[in-house]
Amino acid sequence: MKKLKVQSHAIKKPYKIKKMGTSGLRETQHVYNQPMFLEQFIQGIALFFKELTDDREIAEKNKTIIVAGDPREGNRERIRRIASILGANGFDILIAKDGIASTPAMSHAIRQLNVAGGIILTASHNPFTDVGIKVNMSDGAPANDRDIQRINELQNKVKSVHLIDYDRFAEMEKITEIDIVAIYADLLDKIFDFDEMKNAIEKNGIRGAFDCMYGAAGPFAEEIFINRLNMDADLLRSEPREDLGGYDKKGNPLHPEPDFDYIGLLKEHNSSGEYDIVSAWDSDVDRRLDGGKDFFIESADEFALFAKYSHLINISALYREKIFFCRSTVTAATIDLMLPFLQEKYPSKSIQIIETPTGFKWIAELGNWGVEESNGVGNPYLREKDGIFSTCFLLKIMLETGKTPRQLMEEIWAQFGRVYFTRGEVSGARATEARQLTKILDNAGKLVGKKFGGLVLESAGSWDYIHPETGSIASKKAAWVLKFSQGNTIKARFSGTGSGGYMLRVYCSKYDKKFNLPKSEITKQMKSAFDDFLKKSGFPGKSRQYTDKNQPDAYKKKKK
Ligand code: G1P
Ligand code: ZN
Repeated sequence: MKKLKVQSHAIKKPYKIKKMGTSGLRETQHVYNQPMFLEQFIQGIALFFKELTDDREIAEKNKTIIVAGDPREGNRERIRRIASILGANGFDILIAKDGIASTPAMSHAIRQLNVAGGIILTASHNPFTDVGIKVNMSDGAPANDRDIQRINELQNKVKSVHLIDYDRFAEMEKITEIDIVAIYADLLDKIFDFDEMKNAIEKNGIRGAFDCMYGAAGPFAEEIFINRLNMDADLLRSEPREDLGGYDKKGNPLHPEPDFDYIGLLKEHNSSGEYDIVSAWDSDVDRRLDGGKDFFIESADEFALFAKYSHLINISALYREKIFFCRSTVTAATIDLMLPFLQEKYPSKSIQIIETPTGFKWIAELGNWGVEESNGVGNPYLREKDGIFSTCFLLKIMLETGKTPRQLMEEIWAQFGRVYFTRGEVSGARATEARQLTKILDNAGKLVGKKFGGLVLESAGSWDYIHPETGSIASKKAAWVLKFSQGNTIKARFSGTGSGGYMLRVYCSKYDKKFNLPKSEITKQMKSAFDDFLKKSGFPGKSRQYTDKNQPDAYKKKKK
């Protein structure tokens, strides 16, 4: 076969490239569009995959990488550029149709097609003004901390970038388009049995409304809910758009994120009470907000529901010896309440509840099942969180039991109690403020015994992640933990996905045996305690920004 000429561009002024964070590297369009920035970034990733695949132990066929992502501005051109760099470095490329794929579909396709890995172009729920790129490995899991470290070393050592002519490379059939929608839909069919579900949907006259938020979800939702399940479903905002919906009335870019601030239309559909099941998914479809009949389910609660009905997806065949039910440590501990129940349900398995740092890569590397508080529930058949999987699983449970989402959740809460949970933030632009917050939280232990906003601080410290398999500390200080009186717990950590400034995430949770209390009343106490704690510690920044208003609250306080 004739060889294509590889062009090499010397990098005279290399960028200092940041290490990938919670989920890939997220930067503004401006940063990614600087001359040769993307090129240096990708050349480093190409060198990383070369290191892995040049090893003779690994089969030839692994010299292939899948590239795709969400539809955000510039991604189409970036995919071409990435393909020409990977091609020049000796890789064949698979590209999803129109360059569009969800993160879970990528994870599955990488394993299914037995390739070296994938490059996923998405800044997830960030608006289209941000760009993100992440790397998944041959098992479909996001690159773990060690791999990310190596990638970053290589990225910052790049001396020249190699490029090949895209069109001519494609003519040589080194770039192949794959039908990733079908590959992914086939997996869900295998898990859930679409024929059986289709009949039950028809028999029960199930109606759905699904908000694709102009991200990658549209083609997947259409294939699965309309074509395969033949459901009477309204697909909202289903065409993939470069601007992911553009700007709101005040001129702020819309976030393709399934929380109440951004899903007004779906909320209206849900509150009409006419839809049995509703969902919204973020731009790369790994997050979900599911519900139906005027009710929405938080992710930690949905994971508990899935655990209860895990026999429906044949979990015991998937995990022969041990089943880990993982949650990031900041996520509501609903699943923890179910440990005895799960041990009884699966007597021949070793059942463990594992707490991890934030970022699904920590759960994925354990090769098991898990949940994050930010609307993400894992799909145990692949190594990512998965929005459409979750919606299908909820639907499957509804069809099996004939119950509504509210009835299903109330059964769980009545049996195990409920963890009331909310997430908020303290944010700003100045690094000095972030440093001050760090200091205050590091020193919180000195304030134990003091009263803040009506609650007493009972203990304060930080949480280290001890890896369940190696037994060593894999992530130090992954969250601060402040325990207040009456079982009120606050955890905090800095966000790792923003593209400027700082954001301290504040997570409030409290257990109660009663499940039908107004959530905002319960969390209000914790929020004012934390505010008071910051104020008394001398923090000048505003911490008023965290509220429950953009989160589900099933039992509102009755107006007097
Ligand atoms: C956020 C979420 C976290 C999630 C991540 C990637 O990260 O909080 O749960 O894993 O996005 O989707 P953060 O900005 O908090 O670092
Ligand atoms: Zn996402």
